[in-house]
Amino acid sequence: MIVLQHAKDYDEMSKIAYQAIREILINKPDAVLGLATGSTPIGLYKEMIKDYEAGNVSYKNMVSINLDEYVGLPVEHPESYRSFMNRNLFDHIDIDKNNTHVPNGLADDVDQACADYTAFAKAHPIDVQILGIGGNGHIGFNEPGTAFSSNTHKVELKENTRKDNARFFDNDLSKVPTHAITLGLQDIMGAKLIVLLASGAGKAKAIKEMVLGPVTPDCPASILQTHPNVIVIADEAASYYIKG
Ligand code: F6R
Repeated sequence: MIVLQHAKDYDEMSKIAYQAIREILINKPDAVLGLATGSTPIGLYKEMIKDYEAGNVSYKNMVSINLDEYVGLPVEHPESYRSFMNRNLFDHIDIDKNNTHVPNGLADDVDQACADYTAFAKAHPIDVQILGIGGNGHIGFNEPGTAFSSNTHKVELKENTRKDNARFFDNDLSKVPTHAITLGLQDIMGAKLIVLLASGAGKAKAIKEMVLGPVTPDCPASILQTHPNVIVIADEAASYYIKG
């Protein structure tokens, strides 16, 4: 079931999101966090850092599992999702980096790396999964058409997803990786609580289809309608078609 919360803007979305997960962070010191990259969760991560710095929460015994990683991008590349996570969250809290997991986009045996990642996620059930959403309804890098039964797998990124992400690569599409490894839809659905954030007009159509549309692989996020515990926090622009 999806519970929709409206936020005025990006900042309010980030604050509401933090309040939605704060109790878990405080009451479960060994929580397993499912984390996302991209522009959307950065404000939430800032809230997490602020509260950590205030001494209210410790990540020392927590485990994190990130959704995805580009294939072929060196880990040190500033736009690898490993670098993103270090820069925007891990370097600023007391999480043990050995307990932070991002798919290995450089694995020689990608199939094995994917199978291992799903096995790890099964062994460490995610307490709270943070999600953004693509303008085409993707979650993680599960692009339209992905089977609902999917586990961690290698994907070819859609042209519009690569265009959306070109802003992180000097607006040069040729620099945007063509493939990624992503946690599958079934893995994501294993999370106990899912908190999906959306900001901006570019997400409005996807949010409408996710919440009101048919449950179909054409809109991968629509699978969330069948999950028991989903909170969607959308700002005014992102919830344009589903106001009130
Ligand atoms: C990121 C991820 C993607 C993004 C989505 C939205 O780990 O899995 O699904 O959440 O592409 O990206 P932003 O937040 O940059 O609009």
